[in-house]
Amino acid sequence: MKFLKFRRYLDFGSRHSSFNERNQLIASGIGKERSWILDVGSNIGQTSNFLASNGHFVVGVEKFEKEHKIACARSVPGTAFMRTSVTPEFIHSTVNWDAILLLSVLHRIYSFEGEEFMRSVLKACGEKANQLFIEGSTRQARYMSGGHPAPKFTDFDTQDAGRWHQELFQSELGHNWQVSDVRVLAHSKSEPHRLFFHARKTTG
Ligand SMILES: C[S@@+](CC[C@H](N)C(=O)[O-])C[C@H]1O[C@@H](n2cnc3c(N)ncnc32)[C@H](O)[C@@H]1O
Repeated sequence: MKFLKFRRYLDFGSRHSSFNERNQLIASGIGKERSWILDVGSNIGQTSNFLASNGHFVVGVEKFEKEHKIACARSVPGTAFMRTSVTPEFIHSTVNWDAILLLSVLHRIYSFEGEEFMRSVLKACGEKANQLFIEGSTRQARYMSGGHPAPKFTDFDTQDAGRWHQELFQSELGHNWQVSDVRVLAHSKSEPHRLFFHARKTTG
């Protein structure tokens, strides 16, 4: 039997060299008006807590118990943390959100559940939010630890990975969405760059 190795990312924030910059990009993209935000794959809750400290209400959803427990212990007013594995059905069953965060989580969902499942989660998020903040990986191995085939972009090529992400958004979010900001963020030794996208719904 093939041995599948899923890496765990307890305290993901400390491994990401642009973590604070990314938080600032999200805060300025959302704006000052109090918003309701769903943070998919909230890990130990750092970005949820940061946005709540900026006056927003944030629900963080995390698959794993250890990460979820730490998030609960560190939660600040304005946050709520839930432990569940996000599925398209879960997203469809929620209320509508001003913004959904999919930060460094679509490739995790791809690696656990496959590309089609990840696409369905993204599509469902597009139906339930006015804005999406997405961080995508440029390293194929991040998508493949569950034994799924590589995504169709050139490994570590930020431009080609950007094209793949833009095609993904077009096919799953459709014409009512526009990507208003794209950034290449410094990330780590093993993956020098990540891609950050801010997408907005253009019509109701
Ligand atoms: C690489 S970390 C990123 C954490 C955080 N979103 C960030 O960017 O700072 C991915 C997190 O998503 C969680 N995760 C993966 N698949 C998930 C799912 N289907 N539902 C909820 N959480 C998930 C993982 O357990 C992990 O804590």
